[in-house]
Amino acid sequence: MKDPIFIVIEGVDGSGKSTQIELLKHKFMESGLKIMDTHEPSNGPIGMLIRNIMIGRIQTDQSTIASLFLADRLDHINNPINGMKKRLSEGYNIISSRYYFSSYAFQSEYVPIEWIVNCNSLCKEYLKPDIIFYLNVDPVTCSTRLAKNRIGAEIYENLEKIIKANNEFLNAFEKYGKDENIFIIDGNQSIDAIQKNMWDNIASFKK
Ligand code: ADP
Ligand code: TYD
Repeated sequence: MKDPIFIVIEGVDGSGKSTQIELLKHKFMESGLKIMDTHEPSNGPIGMLIRNIMIGRIQTDQSTIASLFLADRLDHINNPINGMKKRLSEGYNIISSRYYFSSYAFQSEYVPIEWIVNCNSLCKEYLKPDIIFYLNVDPVTCSTRLAKNRIGAEIYENLEKIIKANNEFLNAFEKYGKDENIFIIDGNQSIDAIQKNMWDNIASFKK
């Protein structure tokens, strides 16, 4: 693995993204490779704006939110100080929790998916993932993992959302993923088994 690579981890809430990213980071470090983990919405100003909208502190409409996710992604890619392209040029391998397939899966509920895909084609042109992992977990399992601090009605509402998002992801991979390097990982397995599966795929990736 000579050139740094760009890895994206996608999955519904509670699918295990953060858990796996933390472990992958250590694998890279143990192998003496430079690694940076990041996420979307990003920590940049547009990502912060999105988080304020998501917690209801700022009101706006869904097409604006879809546009903000795109703007945040462009900044995440191209920011001249800490953008992902800059970091890759400095030799860092990058793992991002979420990228444009999250917009396909989540914003398609509110705005036409073709519009989202067209807008995001610029992101794909600027920085196409070398590998996309999708942690495919049974929605009931995800909901149970997330349920610890929630009440009954919330859990049910959450399960409905997870089922929908999981279906949207799988449909989007089918329809828009033909020219992508996507690995659908069985995320119902143990943390270690998933980790091994992902690392084996990364290790055998040839640039
Ligand atoms: P995400 O970042 O996708 O929302 P997390 O990594 O935070 O998901 O995981 C959600 C919860 O599920 C955490 O409590 C985590 O410890 C647990 N978890 C993650 N992966 C697994 C797994 N393979 N088996 C069982 N529990 C898991
Ligand atoms: P995230 O912080 O990754 O949540 P979690 O760790 O619980 O999976 O993402 C926050 C939310 O943002 C998540 O519910 C999905 C949503 N999202 C979109 O709707 N569109 C997007 O393009 C992205 C990147 C995220």
